[in-house]
Amino acid sequence: MKSCLGGILCYNARGCSKRWRRLYSHFNLDIILELTPVAISWRNHIPAMINIQNNISLREYTTFRVGGPARFFACVKSVDELKEAVAWAKGQRGSDGDALQIFVLGGGSNIVVSDAGFGGLVIKNEIPGMEFSDETAGIVMATVGAGENWDSFVAKSVELGLSGIENLSFIPGTVGGGAVQNIGAYGVEVQGAVDSVEVLDVARNEIVDFAAADCGFEYRDSMFKKNPGEFILTRIHFNLKKFDPAYAAVNVSYRDLKEYFSKIPEKSAAPESITPADVREAVIDIRKRKLPDWTKLGTAGSFFKNPVITEAKFVELKAAYPDLPSFPAGKATSEVVQGFVKVPLAWILDNVCGYRGKIHSGAIGVYQNQALVIVNDYLSAGNEADKAAGTAEQIKSLAAEMAQSVREKTGIDIAPEVQYIG
Ligand code: EPU
Repeated sequence: MKSCLGGILCYNARGCSKRWRRLYSHFNLDIILELTPVAISWRNHIPAMINIQNNISLREYTTFRVGGPARFFACVKSVDELKEAVAWAKGQRGSDGDALQIFVLGGGSNIVVSDAGFGGLVIKNEIPGMEFSDETAGIVMATVGAGENWDSFVAKSVELGLSGIENLSFIPGTVGGGAVQNIGAYGVEVQGAVDSVEVLDVARNEIVDFAAADCGFEYRDSMFKKNPGEFILTRIHFNLKKFDPAYAAVNVSYRDLKEYFSKIPEKSAAPESITPADVREAVIDIRKRKLPDWTKLGTAGSFFKNPVITEAKFVELKAAYPDLPSFPAGKATSEVVQGFVKVPLAWILDNVCGYRGKIHSGAIGVYQNQALVIVNDYLSAGNEADKAAGTAEQIKSLAAEMAQSVREKTGIDIAPEVQYIG
């Protein structure tokens, strides 16, 4: 018997006949026969029960729209369900005889799932909840379930007149995924608004809190991303500022935002009148123009991280490419690290390597408006998605070709921003 809830594994016992049909279509038959009588006898005693499905295609769960199946798949909507899923996985073995691997899926917006799929348990984190505290000295604490949609949270906070995350508008994915990757855009990173993160410590199957300072946040990184499988995010506490000149100003320092507001005379004449709602509107407008609509074109946004190079290397490149821009290179967006700068890889891929708009193979290519974005034009054969869709292998091969071109032309080694799964 697999271990879970005191040694007995239970599945969702609500709607029994439907459940049986679903079990037969998704489960290994021997597991079903072993477990369902037990589940039924426990139906009145178990508050949270999970449904582990078998062989579920991950393609539709990702914005890239590539990838094979998950061997096991479970959606969890509460901490108890998450604990059950983890406990279940601990009682299983992978096909290599080792512990069954767990991958936690959020919105699937920053991953490339291999064509062979994932041989472990995919836990789709759908833990809900969005609560805003009363204001104290201009600060409102928002407590948000890791499974909530990131942009719904941003929209709600802007609607409530709060500031801090409006520059991170219109980013696909979940709140948990946003914290794991320390998402950033238009001069702001999520770490600036995080107060603390509540996680499930997988080894101990216990809930633990980490203050933001202990989360190892860096550019598109955190200790949760570095150590996958150790901690699973359940809830995040954010400190947001009441938008009021006494407490908070919006951040419109990023070039695209400066340009946007410079074209609106009443805002450029009175920058203090720019509200979080104005910034959200601007960011949505800019993102719609520059980045692909992920509901129509498969993508994971920026495919690579912007590289950090030495100032000496930058001077050398600047001699060859006088227009090459640069940014501060610190762990937070605006932090300066002496001797180093961050360079926009999109600029290099576009102006030095000529990748913007380049078609690679089948449906896979580089987006026409942003050279850092690989796209899968899965609808290109008139909705015949399967016929037109690209593969994870094609994406990997294009990414390898781009990395080699950057190395040959600039001597810079680049690293993916997306995570490869399976
Ligand atoms: N540029 C080009 N050619 C291009 C695209 C951009 O020359 O095809 C130039 C731009 O003119 C600009 C510079 O490259 O001078 C930087 O471009 P952009 O402002 O679009 O930013 P980025 O560095 O390419 C980063 C994030 C994006 C985020 C934007 C805006 C990373 C890896 N990417 O892109 O995040 O939206 O800044 O802040 O840091 C994501 O993570 O998925 C993502 C989209």
